[in-house]
Order: sequence, then structure tokens, then C-alpha cells
Amino acid sequence: MQKIGDSYFPTKEFKDGAWLNDDSIYEKAKKDPIKFWEDLAKELFWFKSWKKGFLHKPPYFQWFLDGKINITSDIFEKNNLDFKILKNKTALIWEAEPPEEKSRTFTYQELFKEVCQFANALKKLGVKKGDRVGIYLPVIPEVVISMLACARIGAVHSVVFSAFSPQALKVRLQDTAAKVLITADGYYRRGQVINLKQNADEGIKETEVKKTIVVRRAKNEVFWDEKKDAWYEDLIKDEKDFCEAEVMDAEDAFFILYTSGSTGKPKGCLHVCGGYTVQSYWTGKWIFDFHSDDIFWCTSDPGWITGHTYAIYSPLLNGITSLLFEGAPDFPTPDRWAQIVEKHKVSIFYTAPTAIRMFEKYGAEILSKYKFENLRLLGSVGEPIDEAAWLWYFREVGREKCPIVDTWWQTETGGILITSLPGIGPFKPAFTGLPFPGVKVDILDEKGKPCPKDVQGNLVILPPFSPGMFRGIYKNPEKYLETYWSQYGKEIYFTSDGALKDGNDLIRIIGRVDDVIKVAGHRVSTGELEAAINGHNEISECAVIGVPDEIKGEVPVAFVSYNDKKGVAEEVKKEVIDQIKKEIGPIALPKEVYLVEDLPKTRSGKIMRRILKRLFTGEELGDLSTLSNPESVEKIKNIIRK
Ligand code: WT7
Repeated sequence: MQKIGDSYFPTKEFKDGAWLNDDSIYEKAKKDPIKFWEDLAKELFWFKSWKKGFLHKPPYFQWFLDGKINITSDIFEKNNLDFKILKNKTALIWEAEPPEEKSRTFTYQELFKEVCQFANALKKLGVKKGDRVGIYLPVIPEVVISMLACARIGAVHSVVFSAFSPQALKVRLQDTAAKVLITADGYYRRGQVINLKQNADEGIKETEVKKTIVVRRAKNEVFWDEKKDAWYEDLIKDEKDFCEAEVMDAEDAFFILYTSGSTGKPKGCLHVCGGYTVQSYWTGKWIFDFHSDDIFWCTSDPGWITGHTYAIYSPLLNGITSLLFEGAPDFPTPDRWAQIVEKHKVSIFYTAPTAIRMFEKYGAEILSKYKFENLRLLGSVGEPIDEAAWLWYFREVGREKCPIVDTWWQTETGGILITSLPGIGPFKPAFTGLPFPGVKVDILDEKGKPCPKDVQGNLVILPPFSPGMFRGIYKNPEKYLETYWSQYGKEIYFTSDGALKDGNDLIRIIGRVDDVIKVAGHRVSTGELEAAINGHNEISECAVIGVPDEIKGEVPVAFVSYNDKKGVAEEVKKEVIDQIKKEIGPIALPKEVYLVEDLPKTRSGKIMRRILKRLFTGEELGDLSTLSNPESVEKIKNIIRK
């Protein structure tokens, strides 16, 4: 890697081998972004070409109108020539959490066969085009097969992260009104077997789910209801190994994935068939520079958008090998992830800053025995990566030879929209880079004026947006309008991220400007946490804030208004944690719970979370004159000090 000023650039060798190595692509795309994306779309397989590239009816837009496509045909059939070459190539490598367990691999042909069998089985159960199917699976190959089987028959998958609680599953199933849920008996997490079926049984109560399909993974004992439950293996075993692809309109629903917004209720981001396929294919090809012999490890669980797009759809569309790992990267030993990189000859590694900071904390010494010879490119996603973590990743994992692509995107955008391109650069620590060719963004101040360089403002996306961006919030057009299209009007997409540009227009993401916090890269809304805590019988008011954390980036801290007359403070704190476990799951547990008499409020009754945050971090408190109860501040300060 060459260093010029504070940025790095790809070597000549890397540049020469990369799909993109000439920055004129940016100018070319800028001239006519719609035509640019249309030209890219032509390289995919369509049953029928589109009539119009882009249609804008603010705040809605569409791409590739009247085009007909099926992502599984693009992956498995494209043109028959490609598939003959691909057939025997490894599509998936799955590594189990127990190190002694054998890995499982699927060639493209084997994967296609099982996808078709399961697609046929789903059809037999009555699942039709447009029906929603819930998927609540751990990281096992069947999560990929299930998603692809839905895609094959035009059913809309809605994957729920397996560590979400039964209650969180329920809320999502109720919203989609899915009638079928695909789950597993259990899975391994840090050496323990988690009984997932039990959570699923709990989660489907008060929903429309009539059938639960259960993959046998951990062989743990599960409760069984003959009428409702069916084993996955029994369903597929006699099914034919071919299933015709459903012909999908480009704008037909593809999947729904829930994410956290400012308020308590999660939002179902609706993605569509055409644009998502085009964007997944091309962003992977150009940003990760996928070449046929690459082995790509995206560490995200398929239950998040990163897993959807870059552990599954993008690598498979590009005909390369994707690695899935069931467990935690530091179990049973801190270098488990490094063992996996070596064992499976991973060439591209894509993870989150939280993981990088954790590896860093374990120390570089444990990595000295690894050569990482096959690694050629690294990626980061999910939260801002600070300069120290960037440099550590660059030196200790990339051995100063791998470019790092710091990729900015959201559940809503479906694929990466801002990053440096590996064959072009520059790679500047803490900066994500430029918008992907064909994507227009800006950084605006509160009034909507573009910010000069180095000045922080709000990151926005401008028309024509991108083909893979979501098309709405499922069953909630008001929320869609309010969250994304009201800050700057119906033609400017508001990302809720603060950002700035340097003198070369490289973008640095500062972080969320709304009530969302990123806990270990996971998106959690403080409003959702507050709603969970307020579910406690004796608690009626609380405030949750995000505070900086060395490893996780940010973590929640809860202030709960509770008058401890009975001297049961410790129990109540535990119950607060249990409430969050019950309503959401273990991903967002607060670092601290403080019981306070009174929360600082304005005269109109608004809780001043900003003051709580400053109290916690020890910053200057600023003006307290607008508070109706300034005396609460001193009391809380004393509680925190204790
Ligand atoms: C939020 C979206 C789809 C990516 C996985 C998370 C933050 C994402 C970066 C980055 C700084 C980032 C933003 C964004 N974010 N990537 N490279 N640098 N911040 O998807 O859960 O929908 O969260 O993650 O704040 O808005 P998500």
C-alpha cells in the first residue's frame, strides 16, 4: 500500500487486477445516473427488459418499471453456460461453533437443488407469491436455503435475528401477518445450546402462524405439536429437485426487514426485486472486487441487512464462495476468527469496528502465528471506525498490504452507498470515502444549505437515490414520510446521520443525530428500550441514553424514576434488565441502571436526555435555566458518583 499524505492508495498490482481502477467512472456516472444504472442492470438476467429506468413520485420512486426478474435465476441459471462453469464451485462454506464439528459445504448445484426442494415444499404448504414467511434461524446453511426458496416462489421473507426475544419476534410476525415460520431446534452460543424452538413457540402466540418448520441443528429436545410443527428434513426429502422460478416484477416485494427507529415500534423496511438485485450484484463486484476464486467472509448474521446483502445475495450473484460462521469470533479462544480465516483461506474479510476493537484488546501477539496470506481486501461496516482501530486493522490483519473499504449504508439503502473503491482509493482512516458511482449525496445544515468542508451537517441522499433503496415502511406510509422525507421535503432523503466532507470531498460519518444508538454495530432505539422498561408494573418513567464504550462503540445507560420506599433497589434494577431481555433480547442490555427520584425536565415536561448524557460523561452541563426541576440534576450527579 502506498501512503500519500494522510491517505493510502492501492498498489499497482492490486489496481491492475481490480474491476475498477480508473476514477473517470465517477464523472461518467454523474452525467446520467439513471442511464448509468440501466447499463449496469443490462448485465443481469431479466425475463423481460424494463420499459422505464426510473420514476419519481415523491416521496416514492421506482426503478426498472415493468422489468421481470427473479434473483435466484440470476444466481443459479443466468445463462446456462455460466452455470455449467459454476455448478461444481463452492457456494457456501459453513463453520460450526464447536471447533471439532465438521464444516459443511454446498456447491452451487447442491445449493440450487435444496433451494428448489424447499421451494416445492413451501408451495405444498400453500405458500404463494406475495405471502410473507417468517425466518427465525441461527447462522446455518438453512437460513440461506430458506431465503432463496422464498425468493424462488416470490414469497416475501422476513428474517428475525435469532437472538431477538420471543416478544420481539411476535411484534414482527404480527406486523407481517406471516402464516409460516421457519426456525430450528436450537443452536450453539459460547458452548451452550440455546433452545430456539421454545422461543419460537412463545413468539408465535397471538400471531397468524399456522405452521412452524423446524430445522434440526442442535438435536436438543423440543416441545412438539403434531398439527403445527414439521421437520424441515421430512418436508424436503421427497420433493423434486427443480422448481420453476416465479416471474417477479421489478417492483414486486422481495423482503421485509425490521429495523429500529426513533420510536418504540420497529419499522419494516420493504425491499423490491429488481433494484435490490442490481445494486447487490454491482456493489459487491466493485467494492469487494469479487473475482471467481475469492472466499468472502462477511461476519454479519443473516438476520441483519449486512448479512442479507453481503453474506448471501451479493456473493452468490457474483458466483463466489461465501463463508458463514455459527459462533462468536472469540470462542472458544480469542483467535477463533483468525483460525477460520486461515483454515478456509479467506481472501476478503468484512466485519464491524466493534469486532476489530475486541480483537485489538486481545493483543496482536496472538496473531503472530498467522500469516493471513490469502487476505487481499478488508472491509468495515456498521459504525464509525476511529483512526486507531483503522490502523490496527490495517497493520495487524491486513499486514499493510490490504486496502480497507469503510462502507457506509443502512437497512433502508439495501446496499453500500458510500465507500472508497479498492482499485482506486484513497483509503483514509476514519473516512468512508466517496458516494458509489451513480449515487448523489450531500451534507446539509439545519436550513438545507450545503455545509462547507470540515463543517458537520446532516447526510442526505438526492434523486435518483439508488435502485436498491427500500420502497417504504410496511403498512406505515405516515412513518415513512415523517422519518425520511420531512426534514428537507419529499425529494431529499434524510439519513439521520451527521457527517462532514474534507477538502477532497471524502465523507466522514460522525454518527446518528436521532435517538438511535449503535451498540456493537446493532441498531437500537432508545425509545424502544424506554418502552420496554416502562412495561414494568411499578415504573412509569425512564430515560435511556447512549454513552461511549471502548469496545462496543456505544452502550445504553438507563435512568429510571423510582421511589425506593421498600429498599428493594437492587431487585428493581435486575427487573429492569429482565424487562429488556424479555421485550428485545440480550443485544442491548444497559451498562448501568440508575434509580432516581426525578428526571430533569423542561417546563413543558420533556425529559432532557442531553443533560443526563453530560452528567454521565462529566461534560459541562450548559444552561439549566429552562428546567422546571433543576434540583434533580445535583441529585442525579451524586447517584452517578456513587
Ligand atoms: C446506521 C445504519 C447497513 C450497514 C449495517 C448497519 C451506521 C453504517 C457505517 C460506517 C459509520 C456507519 C450509521 C447508519 N453506519 N455504516 N461505515 N461508518 N457509521 O445498518 O443497522 O441499518 O444502521 O449504521 O449510523 O445510519 P443499520
